[in-house]
Amino acid sequence: MSRTGDQFHSRRRFFLHAAGTASAAGAVQHALAQTGTNATARRVIIDTDPGVDDALAIFLAIRSPELNVEALTPVAGNVPLELTLPNALRLLEIAGRTDIPVAAGAKQPLKRQLVTAAYAHGENGLGGVQFPEPKTKPVAESAPDLIRRVVRQSPGQIHLIALGPLTNLALAFLADPGLPRLIPSLTLMGGSLSGGNVSPAAEFNIYVDPEAAQMVFRAGIPTTMVGLDVTRKATLHEEDIQALESGGNPISRAAGKITRATMNRLRQSPTFTGAGPAMHDSLAVATFIDPTVVKLQDFYVEVETAGEYTAGETLGYRRAPMRKSPPMQSAQAKFEDAVFHPNAKVAMEVDRERFVQMLIGRLRK
Ligand code: BDR
Ligand code: CA
Repeated sequence: MSRTGDQFHSRRRFFLHAAGTASAAGAVQHALAQTGTNATARRVIIDTDPGVDDALAIFLAIRSPELNVEALTPVAGNVPLELTLPNALRLLEIAGRTDIPVAAGAKQPLKRQLVTAAYAHGENGLGGVQFPEPKTKPVAESAPDLIRRVVRQSPGQIHLIALGPLTNLALAFLADPGLPRLIPSLTLMGGSLSGGNVSPAAEFNIYVDPEAAQMVFRAGIPTTMVGLDVTRKATLHEEDIQALESGGNPISRAAGKITRATMNRLRQSPTFTGAGPAMHDSLAVATFIDPTVVKLQDFYVEVETAGEYTAGETLGYRRAPMRKSPPMQSAQAKFEDAVFHPNAKVAMEVDRERFVQMLIGRLRK
């Protein structure tokens, strides 16, 4: 079944209209039963590259009454778009939420060749677990166009959660420079102030498209960065995977299969520590739902784009001076420190137990 964004929105309008009538309570209950939408929840677009941990993050968002998921916008990242797009459709079919529109995003980063992470997510992006071919189709609109349209239709109401390289967001902002000021918040999984995972300097999502990430961090949106500083501690244990496997609904069982396959792959590694897959992206969703699951600190985050070895590194300034590398002798411009102004709240500590309880509890229920 294919859905257009307009079909989706006329359906939303019906629910909101119905909520204002005498039989509002009944109408809203009916709407909730049909689609899971909740008139008081915050509205989010999830930009994603599914992806093992993206899969659980999408499930967590769908199972959270605090969120209305308005759309998924897959991007190339963990695997090429040819896989992240059908994976997003598949996950929504498993969840019974084919009312959520899916819009195809960028096939490649803004300026660089695409580097993927199939070594961590399996050749198909879902840990190698085979799910049926999706029956649903993406909407006709591109991801950047959908983001622009939905945000413009409801200024100040659409929150963004970004779980992959930031190419789609950057493309939306390039096409519509006024868009960022209409976005009340951006919560992103990406970056690290304590070393990378794909290079000593860089975390994967920022490494893949550093130019897009730099643009997004500079866009002026109230931004929460959930990076490796906390997500590398957000690992599942054997008993968590068993809890998912024995869950009584399709979401829990699919999450169990995906995390089991990933655990089996990790066990084969000579450096296996006993810790299971890190739920990087789910922690970003959990932080949006309940920021107290992490400890946040103000930083000015800058993204390295020039380095031969360090592109995609995120640097966090806590205070002045915000000093760059020394200029070359040939440089003409005057060397000045920038004025300090935080542009992001960065997650620096996590309550792993509480996070895992939220994730497993919501997926199993
Ligand atoms: C991030 O990179 C991807 O591989 C994961 O899905 C997550 O978004 C972790 O560095
Ligand atoms: Ca991801």
